[in-house]
Amino acid sequence: MSKIRIAVLVSGSGSNLQAILDGIENGRIDAEVALVFSNRKDAFALKRANSKNIKTFYLNIKNFKSDEDYDKAIIQKLKEYSIDYVILAGYLRILTPLFIKTYRNKIINIHPSLLPKHGGKGYYGIRVHESVINSKDEYTGATVHFVDEGTDTGNIILQKKIKVDKDDNAETLQKKVLEIEHKIIVEAIDKLVRGEEFEKSFD
Ligand code: GRF
Repeated sequence: MSKIRIAVLVSGSGSNLQAILDGIENGRIDAEVALVFSNRKDAFALKRANSKNIKTFYLNIKNFKSDEDYDKAIIQKLKEYSIDYVILAGYLRILTPLFIKTYRNKIINIHPSLLPKHGGKGYYGIRVHESVINSKDEYTGATVHFVDEGTDTGNIILQKKIKVDKDDNAETLQKKVLEIEHKIIVEAIDKLVRGEEFEKSFD
C-alpha cells in the first residue's frame, strides 16, 4: 500500500518543514512529503526540500490574473502529485474558497498562539508575539488546526501551551513558541495520517 502523500506550502525559512522531514526520517510520521510549494522563489524552505531531493515548485503571483487562478495552478499540481493532505507551514497567503472546497478537511495550518487568541487577519510572525506581550497573557503556545474559509478559524487539532516569563519579550517568545510548533506539527500530522480522532490537548 503506497504511503500517504503530503504537500507542504511554505513562504519562509521552513523550520516547520524541517521538523516534518525529521519526523518522517525518525519514524514519527508514516507518510511522505511528495511536494513542497512556495509563493516565494527565495524561501529557504525550498533549499531544505531540495537537499532531501523532494520535488519543489514555485509560482510567481504576478503571472496570474487573480488569486483564484493562482490557487487553480497550485491545485493542478497537487492533483498531478496525488496529494492527500496539505500542510501550511509558514505559508503567508490566504487560500481562496476554491482551494478550501477542493481539499476540505485535508488542509492543516500551524499558528504560533493559543487560538482563538491572537489569530486572524494580520496576526502572523512577530506580530502574534507582540500581541501576547501587550495583552500581558500568562500563557502562550502554538496551535495546529484545520483550515476553513476563515483566517485561523478551523477546528483545532492540537495545542500546547507554555508560560510567559516576566522577562519575556516578543523575540524570546517567538523562539520558545517555534520549538513548540516543531513538536506539535509532527504530532498533529501523525494523528492526521493515522486518522486518529482529535482530542484537544492542553498540556
Ligand atoms: C513562524 O512565524 C511560525 O510561527 C509560523 O510561520 C513562521 C515561519 O515558520 N508558523 P517556518 O520557519 O518557515 O516554518
